[in-house]
Amino acid sequence: MMRLDKMLAHCGYGSRKEVKEYIRKGYVLVNGEVITDDDYKVDEKNDEVVIANQNVCYDEMIYIMLNKPDGYISATYDANDPIVLDLISGYEKRNLFPVGRLDKDTEGLLLITNDGKLAHNLLSPKKHIDKIYYLKFEGEFTKKAHELFENGVILDDGYMCMPAKFINLRNGEGKIIIKEGKYHQVKRMMEAVGCRVTYLKRIEFGPLKLDETLDFGEYRLLTLEEINDLKKCE
Ligand code: URA
Repeated sequence: MMRLDKMLAHCGYGSRKEVKEYIRKGYVLVNGEVITDDDYKVDEKNDEVVIANQNVCYDEMIYIMLNKPDGYISATYDANDPIVLDLISGYEKRNLFPVGRLDKDTEGLLLITNDGKLAHNLLSPKKHIDKIYYLKFEGEFTKKAHELFENGVILDDGYMCMPAKFINLRNGEGKIIIKEGKYHQVKRMMEAVGCRVTYLKRIEFGPLKLDETLDFGEYRLLTLEEINDLKKCE
């Protein structure tokens, strides 16, 4: 058993002070009943706790969707630049890390977690999880380039990519769907067909879609459904 405010803060719904306020305002239900008493004791594993219509899952594992802004490094430490974890507050001792990397200037969907097993599985080269990026580019994406992408484009170091798909949106804008995550992969694939990426944003990662209500630098916990969908990729 634990205090309701402690449980909510632990699960990332705000600081102790903030969650106490939510409880007092009547936003929190335990087993269907509004609880306004912040030192109410809950059985964190078995009681059904709901805050603002969201089921609270007491779990040692944390899963966060971040809309990564330009200028941040996808790492847990960097000597010179800000890191993506600098954008996340309230989980300081939870050993969070980003699942894979987006370049410093790439924006969009980045999963942050402390679930090493899930991360390992999602990043495994054997898994071939679709990643979809929106991009702006210079140059012309020709019919030949489409064919090369579909057959496996060859990068500057001789590596032959898995088949990928490119969708032209309008002049200089497109979407690319890839199944791998090699270093600078999209930029290098585009270079291999004579184009230069000027802007890159990840919009999907496997079953996860970037939540368009998140501004750059904002994040939210994944829903239970999103977590389950990700685990199905394992
Ligand atoms: N491909 C790139 O070139 N950069 C990224 O950040 C992600 C994919």
